[in-house]
Amino acid sequence: MTPPPLPGEPSRSVHQAARLRGEPRLPGDKSISHRALILAALAEGEGLVGGAGDGLDVKATAGVVAALGATVERVSEDGLNVDYRVSSPGADGLHEPEGVLDCRNSGTSLRLCSGMLAGLPFFSVLDGDASLRSRPVARIIEPLRCMGAALYARRSDTLPPLVVIGRHGLRAIDFTTRVPSAQVKSAILLAGLRAEGRTTVREAVATRDHTERMLRSRGIEVRREPGTSSGGGWVAWTLEGGARLRAVDERVPADPSAAAFWLVAGAIHPDAELTLRAVGVNPTRRAAIDLLARMGARIEETAIGGDSADETGAVHADDVGEPLADLSVRSSELRGIEVVPSEVAEAIDEIPILCLAATQARGRTTIRGAGELRNKESDRIAGIADGLRALGASVAVDGDDITIEGPTKLVGASTRTYDDHRLAMTFAVAGLIASDSTTIDRADSTAVSYPSFFTELERLRA
Ligand code: S3P
Repeated sequence: MTPPPLPGEPSRSVHQAARLRGEPRLPGDKSISHRALILAALAEGEGLVGGAGDGLDVKATAGVVAALGATVERVSEDGLNVDYRVSSPGADGLHEPEGVLDCRNSGTSLRLCSGMLAGLPFFSVLDGDASLRSRPVARIIEPLRCMGAALYARRSDTLPPLVVIGRHGLRAIDFTTRVPSAQVKSAILLAGLRAEGRTTVREAVATRDHTERMLRSRGIEVRREPGTSSGGGWVAWTLEGGARLRAVDERVPADPSAAAFWLVAGAIHPDAELTLRAVGVNPTRRAAIDLLARMGARIEETAIGGDSADETGAVHADDVGEPLADLSVRSSELRGIEVVPSEVAEAIDEIPILCLAATQARGRTTIRGAGELRNKESDRIAGIADGLRALGASVAVDGDDITIEGPTKLVGASTRTYDDHRLAMTFAVAGLIASDSTTIDRADSTAVSYPSFFTELERLRA
């Protein structure tokens, strides 16, 4: 039994929708927005970050780079996205922050900023909310210490707050990540920019490569090679330390992780037609789209302009070097699929909403090797299993594997989100197809990544 929301919590109720039509507005890609702010702070000069997501996570990174001495100006905003103008003295002109750097709920801010701070010769403390204080940091402490920075954290160097004492002249390393993590990889590459020699990060699955693309567009050569001599899915990313970053103007593409909520809403609702504009479809971010297509979702993808192709053949249509596409989705007959651990790593943020899709798919969906979901803003395996079961779904958890039998008719109930934005949005989308009314506790957590989420949801049923 899921406990009812506590009185006074900012809960929301979502009622079943008769039909869904329209074009939900999407936030700028959260991963790219963080990186754009950090890289702008490391580059000397002035740059525009257009269409950054205006969720609380990205605001946390803006606060961190401002505390280090970059000037971060909000040029225009619309309640969902913001254009920032960042001017910076460059990495060598940044200074020790006067207070604690508040990363709020944002693991990406904490881990990426640690990589940046490792190469800056001063003392910083990174902290955040209760959820952030329960997220692992040993994974970044280990490589950044090997590079010569001093890092300390609570509970024997495992949990935030995190102290980083950076220095000039870091040592370059060749590091193999223990779990595929774009945050760890990016932290090492950001430190590698300030290291002497060649830094290499090897990973078993190519995680999102926005840092690498954005470094290239700022004049840094980042090479991608096979990660082991035996091949497999292994990838190695390499850069030489010491080069200076160029300041650039860029536009952030729409966030594919936010788009995934509407792709699933459209596929599982019996009378739906939704279109999502200019979504980032980077090959390292599009796994959820491909998994949904494998489940039978009727998704149409129209690549947007551009004439250069990357190594995968995808076209680039914007200046952050990311492929973009319009996506449209219609009501679909879904079937269960098997999702293997490398696919989980590629669709890590979309697994909760894919679990909802699986409740409406005929047959069994098994998601294998999803253990990393326990290290997110909440334990997402426990949270998604509890919430979907409360709505009547059949969900079994065996170690790190999740098995969902479908299709099941969902019946509105109270769901608990543990203050996790992706659980809140998943249960809200469930509410669009569940009979009666679905209550989402702490629904205001959606502001972490998608401030206008509930406005979009209500517009679609109109
Ligand atoms: C992110 C990487 C992923 C993802 C997170 C954003 C990034 O985390 O879950 O939401 O921007 O690099 P991990 O690197 O911990 O898997």
